[in-house]
Amino acid sequence: MNILIVYSHPSEKSYTFEILIQLKTALEQQDWNVEISDLYAMNFRSDMTEQEYEREGFAKTERPISIDVLMEHKKIENADCVIFLYPVWWSDCPAKLKGWFDRVYSVGYAYKHQPELRKMKSIKYGLVICTAGYSFELLTETGIAQSMQTIMLDDRLGKRFENKEMLILGGTLEIEKVRQQHKKQIEELTNKIKDYCA
Ligand SMILES: Cc1cc2nc3c(=O)[nH]c(=O)nc-3n(C[C@H](O)[C@H](O)[C@H](O)COP(=O)(O)O)c2cc1C
Repeated sequence: MNILIVYSHPSEKSYTFEILIQLKTALEQQDWNVEISDLYAMNFRSDMTEQEYEREGFAKTERPISIDVLMEHKKIENADCVIFLYPVWWSDCPAKLKGWFDRVYSVGYAYKHQPELRKMKSIKYGLVICTAGYSFELLTETGIAQSMQTIMLDDRLGKRFENKEMLILGGTLEIEKVRQQHKKQIEELTNKIKDYCA
């Protein structure tokens, strides 16, 4: 089993980093291969250049794709399961991860397929894990949880993933009240991955 984690947080002192370590440990205990695209550590460029825009915006698929984007395509092609892990910032993912979608989901690869171009593979399971200051209940009451799910699962993961789920690890403003529950939720994920990717 090959698992790609696309991780977006700037600090190792963060709670999201603590979750990354728990997740990595749980996956490696299953003897699965874990590859991490640590977007801040890689200094992943999230903004699109004018040339990149012209390729995307006008579907000029004969133009070259940047090497860092091709490297992300390679990781995707190698993965049975892709996990996105990030903190909720202003009811969405950090801009760095948004820029990963802007650039890595290139035209002809992730959308507007053409027979002569390599198409993004269909991935068995996509999992979105985000930490959030507000509780899951409050995010649901305000409709923000549903809106994050619609955007991440229906649009960004979309039909490229056969099965997809979002886990909102909420309530981090009062971290001691939720830490154990979150730990349990992370440990339980390996069974889901086995169900979907076996
Ligand atoms: C710039 C910024 C924006 C944030 N926006 C939200 C938000 O819209 N909704 C929310 O529930 N929490 C929000 N938070 C709280 C984070 O989601 C919370 O800090 C995260 O769950 C865990 O923090 P850590 O990994 O940075 O330690 C925000 C935090 C920052 C720094």
